[in-house]
Amino acid sequence: MANNLLKGKRGIITGALDENSIAWHVAERAYAEGATFTLTNAPIAMRMGKINELAKACNTEIIPADATSVEDLEKLYSQSMELLGGKIDFVLHSIGMSPNIRKGKPYGDLNYDWYQKSIDISALSFHKMMHVAEKLNAMNEWGSVVGLSYIAAQKTFPFYTDMADAKAVLESIARGFGYRYGKAKKVRVNTISQSPTKTTAGSGIDGFSAFADFADKMSPLGNASAADCANYCVFLFSDLSRMITMQNLYHDGGYSSTGISEEVIEMFKA
Ligand code: NAI
Repeated sequence: MANNLLKGKRGIITGALDENSIAWHVAERAYAEGATFTLTNAPIAMRMGKINELAKACNTEIIPADATSVEDLEKLYSQSMELLGGKIDFVLHSIGMSPNIRKGKPYGDLNYDWYQKSIDISALSFHKMMHVAEKLNAMNEWGSVVGLSYIAAQKTFPFYTDMADAKAVLESIARGFGYRYGKAKKVRVNTISQSPTKTTAGSGIDGFSAFADFADKMSPLGNASAADCANYCVFLFSDLSRMITMQNLYHDGGYSSTGISEEVIEMFKA
């Protein structure tokens, strides 16, 4: 049900590749709630994904940008403001990629060039997006910036390798920039720590499906879906959450606070 929660708000949504992407769901929900926004993704993703379909459905345009390039991000903000007719109220950072995970490198044998790529793409791009927004004075007061994280930032999940380090950096940037941007412009910055979700990025992780099932059995509410995550993003973009900032917010059906569940105990009974 739509309630016009984002009526009159302008945004930038990164990371929609196909209909499984969390960002795809966020775009559909934000559109239903009355927002206008631009879509963006890495130029290479334009060829692989279906983002054109989404742009059509949301009556908007795509501005290609490699999120590791400050120059691309400058164009992204200035073209978005021009297209949308004013400053930006919300930004979704939904970007993650680890060449080490893609190529099956274990944590003890990482390729360090790829490691730097993982951190640059998945974490420093969050800093760059806010740095550029601040420099161009592109955000309205009480605007909201949301990044997507995973609990491997706090606890070890061996298969998550260097992405765990990238997520820890991402969450730290939310605090660092959240303080700065809050003082300067009353802009809010948060990360959502989301349940395992079947998407292109998620499924690239070895053993993902088994782990997603385990997380589902551990969580009293079950895993949060991409559609649930989209609802949470809309809430964080809206004025209903205006005093929430510098937080890493678990959106995981209770997983992060559960030691063990009855279902998992059953699995180990002889
Ligand atoms: P996805 O694969 O649909 O989205 C990742 C996006 O990052 C893609 O659209 C890709 O093109 C984009 N991207 C990669 N390199 C880029 C670059 N240099 N510049 C701009 N964009 C670039 O997968 P998903 O799962 O929707 O991922 C979105 C976010 O959610 C990521 O930060 C991911 O780590 C996070 N997340 C995902 C979970 C999952 O289980 N799927 C769980 C918790 C967090």
